[in-house]
Amino acid sequence: MNLTILEDFKCSSYIIKHSNAVLKKAKAISKDFDVNLDHVEAGAILHDVGRSKTQSIYHALIGAEILKEKEFPIEIVKITERHIGAGIPKEEAITLNLPPRDYLPITFEEKIVTHADNLINDTKEVSLDFIIKKWSKKMGNNHASLERLIKLHNELFNI
Ligand SMILES: [Fe+2]
Repeated sequence: MNLTILEDFKCSSYIIKHSNAVLKKAKAISKDFDVNLDHVEAGAILHDVGRSKTQSIYHALIGAEILKEKEFPIEIVKITERHIGAGIPKEEAITLNLPPRDYLPITFEEKIVTHADNLINDTKEVSLDFIIKKWSKKMGNNHASLERLIKLHNELFNI
């Protein structure tokens, strides 16, 4: 699969550039793991397909629905659905008016794409520190997502 599929889904050139950067980062992280590379690559390419419809947090769910409808493999659907932040647990999903269930990355393919997306700000790679500062500003210093972010980072980089 390559990035031109995003044109078929009417994604903007910005989303295509962002997804390309996420794809490169996800492939680099994958080198240290025994994962299904086809799934990582397809997930990285398609994770923001829902942004063709909305820029809100619902883009993950909408993206997953688009892919499900087009009969993409469930692994790619789940990568897309679970890639927001460092994942969102059911209790938080309820407060965000998302359908009540866990949106947490479980497989390494899901974790790698989720975190590659975190490490790419627009189209540029950023540090963990940068993300922590960005999320703290947006959601507050004590938001539970920060702990999930650090845990995910440490898990993937074996810290
Ligand atoms: Fe996204």
